[in-house]
Amino acid sequence: MTTESAEREPAESPVLDAKSVEALTHEVARRRTFAVISHPDAGKSTLTEALALHAKVISEAGAIHGKAGRRSTVSDWMEMEKARGISVSSTALQFNYHSDKDGSDNVVNLVDTPGHSDFSEDTYRVLTAVDAAVMLIDAAKGLEPQTLKLFQVCRHRGIPVITVINKWDRPGRAPLELLDEIAEQIGLVPTPLFLPVGIAGDFRGLLRRGEDGVPEEYIRFTRTAGGAKIAPEESLDPAAAAAREGEEWETAVEESELLSATGQDHDQEMFLAGQTSPVIYASAMLNFGVRQLLETLVSLAPPPHGREDVNGRSREVADPFSAVVFKVQAGMDAAHRDRLAFMRIVSGVFERGMVVTHAQTGKPFATKYALTVFGRERTTVDNAYPGDVVGLVNATALAPGHTLYVDRKVEFPPIPSFAPEHFAILRAQSASKYKQFRRAVDQLDSEGVVQVLRNDIRGDASPVLAAVGPMQFEVVSARMKAEFNVEAVLEPLGYSIARRTDAASAEELGRQRGVEVFTRSDGVLLALVTDKWRLQYIEKEMPELTLETLIGAG
Ligand code: G4P
Repeated sequence: MTTESAEREPAESPVLDAKSVEALTHEVARRRTFAVISHPDAGKSTLTEALALHAKVISEAGAIHGKAGRRSTVSDWMEMEKARGISVSSTALQFNYHSDKDGSDNVVNLVDTPGHSDFSEDTYRVLTAVDAAVMLIDAAKGLEPQTLKLFQVCRHRGIPVITVINKWDRPGRAPLELLDEIAEQIGLVPTPLFLPVGIAGDFRGLLRRGEDGVPEEYIRFTRTAGGAKIAPEESLDPAAAAAREGEEWETAVEESELLSATGQDHDQEMFLAGQTSPVIYASAMLNFGVRQLLETLVSLAPPPHGREDVNGRSREVADPFSAVVFKVQAGMDAAHRDRLAFMRIVSGVFERGMVVTHAQTGKPFATKYALTVFGRERTTVDNAYPGDVVGLVNATALAPGHTLYVDRKVEFPPIPSFAPEHFAILRAQSASKYKQFRRAVDQLDSEGVVQVLRNDIRGDASPVLAAVGPMQFEVVSARMKAEFNVEAVLEPLGYSIARRTDAASAEELGRQRGVEVFTRSDGVLLALVTDKWRLQYIEKEMPELTLETLIGAG
C-alpha cells in the first residue's frame, strides 16, 4: 500500500445520506449480473433469446438474432465478424424480471461472451465483471473443451456456477450420466433443482425437487410453434403428476431419491463457495426450463458485492461510485468509428454526466455519453447501480482493468492476461507508415486486442504479437487497415507455449534452444517455448528456472 493513497483517504464520512443508501441497497439487492459459459453451438444465443422472451424484452424469439442469420446479427460491428458469422464483441443485456413465485421485481444483467475460443481472453475479462455464471451444456455432447476452460476460470475467480443441460428435446444421454460426468471431470457436485420428466427427446416437463429430493411439483410444458412464444406451463402436484405421466414421472422421482442418497441436494453455502452447482434441464429452443433458470438466478445467485482494491481493502457497494473497465471495443459502428469502454459498476450510483476520475492517470473523465448496448441496440443510460454494465463512448484512455471512481480514490487490481498460444511478428508493409504503425500497435495493445511482446534482439520496429487464438491476429490486421490506414504483415513464429519468468531466469532461458524471452508491455517477462517436449526437458534439467503457468493454459 502506498502512503499517497493513505493520505488521500478522507475522513470516513458517508457521501450518501441514509435515504440514498437505503435506495441504493434496494437496487443492489434486486440485481443479478451473470454470463453464460459454453462451447460453441451449445445454444447460448438461443438461450439469450429465450431469456429476453421471458423477461418480455422481446415478444417473439428471433427478434434479436433473426432465425436465418442468428449468429451474424448479434453484434456485427466488423465485416470480419459478419463474414465468419461469429460474435467477436462483448455486450450486455439488461432486463427487468418480475418473479411470480415470490413477487419480487429484479434487474438482470446478462453479459454476453464471445462464442469463439479464439476470443477466450475477452470471455475471461467478461467473467471479471459478473457475480455468477451459467454453464450451458448440450445434453448429447456433455462437457466440451471450451466449457471446461471457462469453468476453470470461474473456479479460479470463485464465481458460483449454475448448470443448464440444454437441448433436452433432442435425443441425448441419461440425465444422471451427465451429472456423473460433471462430478468426475471437474469435481463440481451437481445438485439438480429440477429433473426432467421424459427421456432426452421426449421432454414433457420438470420435477421440482424439494428438501431431501422429495418431489414438490410437476411443471408440465406445452410446445408452441417453433418455440417462438413462451411455453405455457401447468403446475401439478405429485399425485396428479403420477396419474398423468405414469412411468416417466416415477423414473424422475427415483432419480431424485438416488441423488439425495448421494448427497446431491442444493446447499446455498456450498453453491456460493463454488463447490456445488444447481442443475436445470432445459430446452432453450422450446423455452422449457427458461423461467426456472430465471427464478434460480434471482433466488440463489448472489447480488453484487464489494470488491477488494489493490491495497486489499474492500470497496463496498454503498461506497461512493467506482467501476472497473472490462472490455474496450472499437469500430462497433462503422459510421462513427467510435470506441466503447464497458465498465461494471462496483459501488455507488452512476449518473450520466458525472465527472469521474480515471485511477490510472488521475485525470477527470466526463460521462456525457453513457450507453447500454446489446447487439445493435443502444440506449442512453441515466442512472446505473452496482452490477450494471455501462458503455462509455470515445473513452480513448480507458483499457481493460482500469478503475473509475468519484470522491474516494480506489484502484482495483489489474485483470491478469490469459496464456497466449499463438505468436507472430508484426511489420508495417511500408516503412514510411511507421508512425501510424506504432500508434496502431499501442492502441490495440492498450485495448487488450492482443498482447505485445518486445526484446532487444528483435528491436522495436517489429514487435511480436501474442494471442490466445489466431483470429485475434486477423482483428489486428483488419483494424490497422481500417482505422490507421496501415498495411501490416504478420509472420507466424514457431512457439506454442508462454510461461511467466523472472529476470534471474531470463538469461539462462535465453540461451536455450527453442526458447526466447520477451517483455510484455505490462512489464511481465514471458519465455516463449516451441513445444511441450522442450518445456518438459528444460523443467527437468533446470528446475531452478522460473517457468510459471499462466491462466487458461492448456
Ligand atoms: P451458440 O450461440 O451456443 O453457438 O448456439 P446457438 O444458440 O446458435 O445454437 C446452436 C444450434 O443449436 C442452433 O441450431 C440452435 O437452433 C440449436 N439449439 C439451441 N438450443 C436448442 C434446444 O434447446 N434444442 C434444440 N433441439 N436445438 C437447440 P442451428 O441448426 O445451427 O441453427 P438454426 O437453424 O436452428 O438457427
